[in-house]
Amino acid sequence: MNMLESLQSKDTMIPEKYRQMSREELEERVRFAKDHLGKRLFIPGHHYQKDEVIQFADATGDSLQLAQLSASNREAEYIVFCGVHFMAETADILTSKHQKVFLPDLRAGCSMADMADSSQLERAWQKLGEQFGNTIIPLTYVNSTAAIKAFVGKNGGATVTSSNAENMLKWAFTQKERVLFLPDQHLGRNSAFHLGVPLDEMAVWDPIKDELIFDGPTDQIKVILWKGYCSVHENFTVENVKQVREQYPEMNIIVHPECRREVVALADDAGSTRHIIETIKHAKKGSSWAIGTEMNLVKRLINENPDKHIISLNPHMCPCLTMNRIDLPHLAWCLDSIVETGSHNEIKVEEQIADDAILALNRMLARA
Ligand code: 13P
Ligand code: SF4
Repeated sequence: MNMLESLQSKDTMIPEKYRQMSREELEERVRFAKDHLGKRLFIPGHHYQKDEVIQFADATGDSLQLAQLSASNREAEYIVFCGVHFMAETADILTSKHQKVFLPDLRAGCSMADMADSSQLERAWQKLGEQFGNTIIPLTYVNSTAAIKAFVGKNGGATVTSSNAENMLKWAFTQKERVLFLPDQHLGRNSAFHLGVPLDEMAVWDPIKDELIFDGPTDQIKVILWKGYCSVHENFTVENVKQVREQYPEMNIIVHPECRREVVALADDAGSTRHIIETIKHAKKGSSWAIGTEMNLVKRLINENPDKHIISLNPHMCPCLTMNRIDLPHLAWCLDSIVETGSHNEIKVEEQIADDAILALNRMLARA
């Protein structure tokens, strides 16, 4: 069954009874499944997950940590991934054959990952190859489908995450003269700029129009940025930064590097979810922070750091709707089904794709 077929299947619609259950009953069911399955079950949770879910995670992390955890866990038979689809695919690729990965709600995708598909990438690669010859290495953000990772792996490239993008770019430039960075133009631009690549040496590839956007002599292009973005992080604007600076001059601004270049340039700091958490945790008592990242994480940081003044950089808070699809009812339903049948919303990457994608992931993990 492909993704579309499984989404249309009745089995992927949560039974009404889970919607009617009280929070206590749902939590009881999760606790029962965890006790019953013991070490056979492992629940990794991304930092953007809701508190009602994250309270049951066996480990939490940013994308890099979650990939590392998947690569090192050989014990759990059932991995119930509380995150989005590309993270569950990555876990399936990195775990052994006897381990099964499940996503509590198959609708938990990532709109950014959907902005690059294999046929678009094949066309781009062909056209860019005609223009630049064999001078380009592809790097893909882990926020991409397994098929994109496979293409990148087959073509000598690697995956990156928000916590190692700069290092991976450094490595990529030891391999080839130019980098094609996909699908997030902002992470690519921010990381390359930090590394010292001037903005006028970066072009943008438009996968809808199949064209390169660049003003100037094309032989000076060092980085080609796929025209993708995160719809959550695009909501943090220069206007938000200005308002915070005006209203709270003492406030530190920290953002995720999926924010636009102009926002990152005006912020005091930028980094992965893990970097944001660590920075706030170790910040001085009484310090003030405006955070530019997903709402669940900002809310958790506010609750966990009562000794600091923390606000969202955008007063309208930005949720990741797909991350939010994983909720307590879906987690309880998934675990109940695993206890009963040993399966529920399994994420299984095709073998050939997994064999190529792991090349890209391993090149990253070897340098992480
Ligand atoms: P991190 O790797 O920083 O956790 O980010 C993942 C993500 O999807 C951010 O939008
Ligand atoms: Fe994808 Fe953005 Fe959600 Fe991260 S926050 S999972 S990049 S849509």
